[in-house]
Amino acid sequence: MQGSANLNLMIKAARKAGRALVKDFREVENLQVSSKGPGDFVSKADREAERIIKEELRGARPSYGWLGEETGEEAGEDPTRRWIVDPLDGTTNFLHGLPHWAVSIALEHKGEVVAGVVFDAAKDELYYAEKGLGAFMNETRLRVSGRRSMIEAIFATGVPFGGKSTLPATLQDLARLMPVCAGVRRFGSAALDLAYVAAGRYEGYWERGINAWDIAAGLILVKEAGGFCGPVREGRDIFEQGAVIAGNAELFELLCKVIRQPA
Ligand code: IPD
Repeated sequence: MQGSANLNLMIKAARKAGRALVKDFREVENLQVSSKGPGDFVSKADREAERIIKEELRGARPSYGWLGEETGEEAGEDPTRRWIVDPLDGTTNFLHGLPHWAVSIALEHKGEVVAGVVFDAAKDELYYAEKGLGAFMNETRLRVSGRRSMIEAIFATGVPFGGKSTLPATLQDLARLMPVCAGVRRFGSAALDLAYVAAGRYEGYWERGINAWDIAAGLILVKEAGGFCGPVREGRDIFEQGAVIAGNAELFELLCKVIRQPA
């Protein structure tokens, strides 16, 4: 795919940060780790990756705004555009030496994500999408899965940890969904969960209590691969609500029905 200058910039930044993270991942035992709230750890590698990405993106587009997991929100001169960045999505996996984590970079324009890059550096899988141009993994075009039957479908989610208030509702979701599908996975990276929906590996994904930087890039991957995304509570904005449902064209509505059922 012939991407825009912005997409190429995002890919360059993701690869650069990914290379640094792979080096750190090999030495994960030696990393100095600080804790950031219950169950949520931030490593030096995480902060360094955000620094690398910020230098690349803001260096090239100084007028764009910024929302990053590590450095927070910064307004830009151009109020219509901002980068939404999670330098290391799947931090807990990373700290435990599990090779399932990713760099996630999205570009938002007038409130809509118009480009996204999710880089699984440990597996060298680069997922990217741009509005209207499709979604890709490395050179391969992505399509969501064509499975139509719930009982054959695999879904992914994030199970809240560290006493998060969204745990009871997620347990109810699991109790309703698990008997009617082929399985639910909790692999620990929301960005990759969405990338896997786009790649047809999962039929769908939902999560309650999720941040914009975890899912912004993944959402456009799913849409550009022919899937659907929506909020858990209808009529609300996904980022504002912090809860999302995504799925292939066939099963998205059914998944919404299960997750949106009143308690
Ligand atoms: C986390 C991962 C995880 C999800 C959590 C996120 P982080 O992001 O995406 O899969 O369940 O809600 O916080 O902290 O590794 O960037």
